[in-house]
This record gives sequence, C-alpha cells and structure tokens, in this order.
Amino acid sequence: MRNLASLSLAVLALASLTAFAQNPAPKAQVVALTPPMGWNSWNYFAEKVDDKGVRAAADQLVATGMKDVGYVYVNIDDTWEGERDASGVLHTNAKFPDMKALADYVHSKGLKIGIYSSPGPKTCANYAGSLGHEEQDAKLYAEWGIDYLKYDLCSFIPEVMEKQAPHDKAAQMRLMEAAYAKMDKALKATGRPIVYSLCQYGWDAAWEWAPSVGGNLWRTTGDITPDWDRIAVIGFGQSGLAKYAGPSHWNDPDMLEVGNGNLTLAENRSHFSLWALLAAPLLAGNDLPNMKPEIKAILTNRDVIAIDQDKLGKQGERAYTDGEVEVWTRHLEGGALAVAVFNTGDTRYSTHPFHLSLSKLGLHGAQAGKDLWTGKAVELTDNQPIELGSHDVLLIRIGAQK
Ligand code: GLA
Repeated sequence: MRNLASLSLAVLALASLTAFAQNPAPKAQVVALTPPMGWNSWNYFAEKVDDKGVRAAADQLVATGMKDVGYVYVNIDDTWEGERDASGVLHTNAKFPDMKALADYVHSKGLKIGIYSSPGPKTCANYAGSLGHEEQDAKLYAEWGIDYLKYDLCSFIPEVMEKQAPHDKAAQMRLMEAAYAKMDKALKATGRPIVYSLCQYGWDAAWEWAPSVGGNLWRTTGDITPDWDRIAVIGFGQSGLAKYAGPSHWNDPDMLEVGNGNLTLAENRSHFSLWALLAAPLLAGNDLPNMKPEIKAILTNRDVIAIDQDKLGKQGERAYTDGEVEVWTRHLEGGALAVAVFNTGDTRYSTHPFHLSLSKLGLHGAQAGKDLWTGKAVELTDNQPIELGSHDVLLIRIGAQK
C-alpha cells in the first residue's frame, strides 16, 4: 500500500516536472538594467501637470531626438489623483480625463509611462494615496499600462509610523520597509514589468534594504531644487554609496534640474556630468516644449549619456578633492575610465590653475582621451594645469571610446 502511494507520488512529481519543463512559470522581466531615463513632470510643472502637458512632453521627447538617445519614460508625478468610488477604485481628477487613453498615446510613440503614489493615505501634495488599496491600485496601474511607479512616503510618516509606533524609531522604520515590500508584492502580482522607484528621502539608509523590497531605484536625499548649492550638496554628498548600485538597483540623487531656474550653462553641464558619473537615473525635469537649443545639447550629449548608461553599472566615486576642486572617476566597460574635474568655487582658476594628479587616479604616464563636452581628442599629462570657469566641469573619457 505504502509502496503504491510512493510510486504514485513519484509519477505525479515526474508529471509535474515534465509539465514545468514544457511550460515554465513566466520569469519576471528584469527592468532598469541601466539607470532609467525619461522625463518627470514635477520639477518644472509640479501641480500644474495635466493630460495635455504629458502628451506634449511625449511629443517633444520624440521631436527633439531625446527618445533616440534613451529618454523613454514619461512620468506623471503627484496631483493626478481623484477620489475613490464605493468599491475603493481610484479615479483620476479632471486634469486627467482618461489615463488609459493617455498611456496608449504615450505607448504609441514608442515610449513608456510612469505614475506616482504614496504608501500613506495622502500624497505629499495631499491627494489620495494607496494605504489599504495597494493591490487594487497596482492592478489599476497594470490595466492602464503603467510601466513605472514612484512611491513617495509622505503622509505614511505621521499617519502610520508615528501613530503606530510613537517614540520607537526602529519600529517606525520596520513599518516603512514593510509598506514598500507590500507594494512591491502587489506590483509583481500584476505580472506586468513595472520599474519600482522608492521615494523616502534615503531614510534608514535606503540603499541597504531597498533592493530587498524590490526597489529598482531609491532616493538617497531630500528634494533637489534648481540651484547650484543644492545640486552640489546632493551630488558630491553621494560619495560612499557606489557599492550599493548596480544593474536593476540604483541610487537616486533625485531628478534633473537641467534647464530649470537660473542655472548657468556651466552649472547645467556639471549637474549632468555628475549625475552620469553617479549612474543616476536621468529624468529630465524641464519644460520640453520650450527647451532652449543649448539645454537640448546638454541633455542629448551621447558621450555623457554613455557614461551614465555604461553596461558595467559601476557607480563613480570621488577620487580626491583639492580646495574647491572635486575630482571624480567612474570605471567603465572595456577598461575605460571617466574622469571629471569640477570647480565648485565661485571664482575662475585662470590666475592659479588647478593641477590634476594622474597618479592619484591610479594612472601612470600620459593618457589619451576625449573631452566629452568639446568632443575633441585630448591628452592628459601628470600635473597638467587645468583652467575651469566657476561651477564648470572637465569631463574626459580615457580608453576605449564609444
Ligand atoms: C516629494 C518628492 C518630490 C515630488 C513631490 C510631489 O516632495 O520628493 O520628488 O514627488 O513630493 O508632491
């Protein structure tokens, strides 16, 4: 009897193994093998974003050639949300009459579409969040055809963390991590590949646990603003985080401000160069229909984008600082190296040029490379004087050229 039972068990196991071999469970598609690139509505439009503006951004990604150099995500940030109906289904507000139609439009351009929510009851701008509706919302996103979710902590802090675990920071952080894991599970359950972007300002060393809750990227800081001091504090403050980044899991020092505020061209170049060195997501945050040619030239510089999107996925690091000069390097595939020298000071170096030490970068002898902002071939020699304008950058690729 027992023998018969184990025989039939063995037959069953064999049958299911054969069925599995013929019909393996669908493997979750890997997303964000390189840092996501695209556009997000928040930095320029904030709560003024609407259906028309998102369509215009999608049109411009195509018309400007940004799509061709890799900008594919069109991400709607906060303020699209309306009310929930009696069955808890979330509706859009009047600015977004038909999200499915909008997603179809974006997809018809060969682009992808992203959306925004919060694990709390409300988003940062006080619109409906996903608390208690995670599975329902994830399903809705999948039905609409959403490809990317930014999930922003905000009201989860006072409404859940502080209420459920007052005076216990560690317990608060566990609640936060569980909330991110919950939405990850809900997204995965839809079967649709959706990039998962954690936005909780780097709390509790997000880089240490975000990948384990499915995060493809996680904010490492509070919000960026379009001014050099903030960009420099955030960008140069990323030192030490390189080892946490890699294909499908990236540090996110926040979206780009290139073309916003009163940033000078030098500042825009430095911002973009530093984000490329940092293997940061490149989410343009400017007004695409009114983009100036010189801003487009920065955002579409293929050589700089190639640094950001390098297949090795190894984030760059500070090599050394010298007074107001920051020197960063990033190792690239094929043994190539990106070297960036930033003048963070307010004055020009012409009267006392900076001398770049190649040995401090582990390089010996003259190095042939390409200046990625002039496009010219250059040779770097040890202690060579370098003159940089205030807040400007010298970005060189040494070794295998793209
Ligand atoms: C937070 C985020 C921003 C943006 C706003 C929207 O401040 O950090 O990037 O999404 O919320 O309300």
